[in-house]
Amino acid sequence: MDIQSIKTTPYTDQTCGTSGLRKKISVVKQENYLENFVQAIFNSLEGFEGKTLVIGGDGRYFNNTAIQKIIKIAIANQFGRLIIGQNGILSTPAASHLIVKRGAFGGIILSASHNPGGPNGDFGIKFDTADGAPAPQSISDKITEQTKIIDHYWTVNINDIKLSEIGEQVIGSTVIEVVDSVRDYASYMQEIFDFEAISNLFKNGFKMSYDALNAVTGPYASYIFETLLGAEEGTVLNKTPLPDFGGLHPEPNLTYAKHFVDKMYQDDAPDFGAASDGDGDRYMILGKKFFVAPSDSLAIIAEYMEQIPFYKGKFYGVARSMPTAPAVDKVMCKRNLPIYATPTGWKFFSSLLNANKISLCGEESFGTGSFHLCEKDGIWAILFWLNIIAITGKSVEELNFDLWHQYGRVFTSTQSYEGLEVEPTNQMMNALKEKLNSLVGQTFFGHKIIETGIFNYIDPITGDTANNQGYIIQFEDGRIFSRLSGTGSSGATLRMYYYAETNEQDKFSMDAVEALSDFIMAANEIMGIKDYTGKDAPNVVT
Ligand code: G1P
Ligand code: ZN
Repeated sequence: MDIQSIKTTPYTDQTCGTSGLRKKISVVKQENYLENFVQAIFNSLEGFEGKTLVIGGDGRYFNNTAIQKIIKIAIANQFGRLIIGQNGILSTPAASHLIVKRGAFGGIILSASHNPGGPNGDFGIKFDTADGAPAPQSISDKITEQTKIIDHYWTVNINDIKLSEIGEQVIGSTVIEVVDSVRDYASYMQEIFDFEAISNLFKNGFKMSYDALNAVTGPYASYIFETLLGAEEGTVLNKTPLPDFGGLHPEPNLTYAKHFVDKMYQDDAPDFGAASDGDGDRYMILGKKFFVAPSDSLAIIAEYMEQIPFYKGKFYGVARSMPTAPAVDKVMCKRNLPIYATPTGWKFFSSLLNANKISLCGEESFGTGSFHLCEKDGIWAILFWLNIIAITGKSVEELNFDLWHQYGRVFTSTQSYEGLEVEPTNQMMNALKEKLNSLVGQTFFGHKIIETGIFNYIDPITGDTANNQGYIIQFEDGRIFSRLSGTGSSGATLRMYYYAETNEQDKFSMDAVEALSDFIMAANEIMGIKDYTGKDAPNVVT
């Protein structure tokens, strides 16, 4: 085995963000850029020699090139076995499941999730630990440190490995195992949900439409919904993972998946609509002419959690990210079970999941998951909904109204301003920070501010701290929360999160953005968003 040490120099911009490293393709293609980061991952870890590493990605542009480089670096770094999804494909939840199922040391997942793909799009890479969870902050920080001092990486001089056929081959002392990307994950879903009840639903004429947005979930959805559950052929749209997602934006929300939302608002729309993002960890649920807010979806899943046998007697608590509207809090309050509010990013749920403090967790950004694995999981959430519908016989809309009648409605909207200039955006956030205290007691458009603050978090299990996670402006009857995105590859993205609550039944059908308009105007007045960013309106509204 010809192991080579290749001299390199550090890049200064390889800091891990909300979810690993995300960069433009043009950046990742620079000489040794990916190699440096992969070796930095290994340099920050210990004791992996002879152990197993799972590798896979969402199939976006550069996925295949990157996987071949990673295989060679992993062999040179003495991993004992590499488990790789066929053709380099693994959804993030499927990778997480494989890591745990196969007792791997960890995994490298190649995905920029919901960011655009293609030669001008984004690329991403992150490390998941042996529990199938995104590397915690302590490891991400070590990786970032290593990227700053790296001076060489290890690789082997071999031909590219064929990833199109399932099977094993041995290179030096490393076994390379190419696995079916879908089967293990699908079997796990069969353990969790009542596939018989759901397939009866389809037998009785229930119609579903699923948009894979030409990203990673196509093969998973076709096999699970059409082959195993018997949904009619054609249920899964845009089902072939393409390097540029066929021009679609792989983020299922009201803005980027508008073509699909429009389809669900037509008179002949199917009963149930769903979509997932680039790497399959997010999901969107729609009924006939009905959109389900992610925070309501989390609450509805919590409401029915104990009715799924897999979770019976194991409903410990729920966590939601702080910006997520607190619809689920009411469900948990009724059950007298704990609810945790964490910073944005899945990694903050892991310690709570591993310590059995929570069984379910979710974010406003269309991500929900449970202790079944340590990543959010789009297809799992969609199956959960199908199982609830099979149990109750109720429509998506009825399930939402049931929730609101029982607990009141929590209107919510997330509004993102993408592609902002970094300097003025930072100035705006600093100015807001400075004035937070003085806002208490002031009234805007008839709503009084009762509390403001900076969201600082102490992990209740590990004691790790995460400071400056966003700014809270709490009103008597609603909230504005603002923070900057940590997943972008260039410029700045401002995220504004709003919620307001009502118990007045005649308001339940109101459009959320309309119901929140006072708070949206208040945010503009308080923060001067237009003055600082030059933008009249957000470009993504959900
Ligand atoms: C975004 C979402 C966040 C999610 C993350 C990774 O992060 O807001 O909820 O965990 O993507 O999918 P952000 O860009 O806001 O830092
Ligand atoms: Zn994702």
